[in-house]
Amino acid sequence: MSGTGTNLQALLDACGDPAYGAAIIAVGADRPEIEGLARAERAAVPTFVLRVPDFPDREAWDRALAERVGEYQPDLVVLAGFMKLVGPAFLSRFGERTVNTHPALSPSFPGMHGPRDALAYGVKVTGCTLFIVDKGVDTGPIVAQRAVPVLDGDDEAALHERIKVAERDMLVDTVGRMIRAGWSVTDRKVTLG
Ligand code: GAR
Repeated sequence: MSGTGTNLQALLDACGDPAYGAAIIAVGADRPEIEGLARAERAAVPTFVLRVPDFPDREAWDRALAERVGEYQPDLVVLAGFMKLVGPAFLSRFGERTVNTHPALSPSFPGMHGPRDALAYGVKVTGCTLFIVDKGVDTGPIVAQRAVPVLDGDDEAALHERIKVAERDMLVDTVGRMIRAGWSVTDRKVTLG
């Protein structure tokens, strides 16, 4: 993760209720001393950091990430605000059970600046997308989406904040359903339950 970890916090809060049905077993980041790690520590969730510059190349980092995540044997890996692309080693092991959240309505505005790109294009509706990670940039099968209106006078920060409210709700609702009921993917169509 790279942001302030509000999506993570929403999941940590949801997991505090046993009826939610999911538990966060570890939180990883690609940099130390970020708010997301502090949030995990406050919730007594184990954390780890794997920095790309500590490895000879991206492939070695990717292999180490897959190894480390594998130690926890997760049913689902959630990339919430994780701004790095995972590579082939990670995807071959976790590709069908890794989701990512993106602050735009895919397939529009992939990449690092979803809210900014949506504003610049002049769309009236944007939103957020939860998708199963594949080797593309925000291209994987879509698990859930929420629409968010673009308001007159929005700047990037205001729009992104409004998207993030919807994003947290989408993430908590969908991750819980995935864990409680399972999911399947057929020809890009994701079915829960
Ligand atoms: C979220 O809006 C997430 O979708 C976005 O960064 C924010 C992180 O917020 N990710 C991307 O744009 C990835 N392409 P958070 O750190 O408060 O959860």
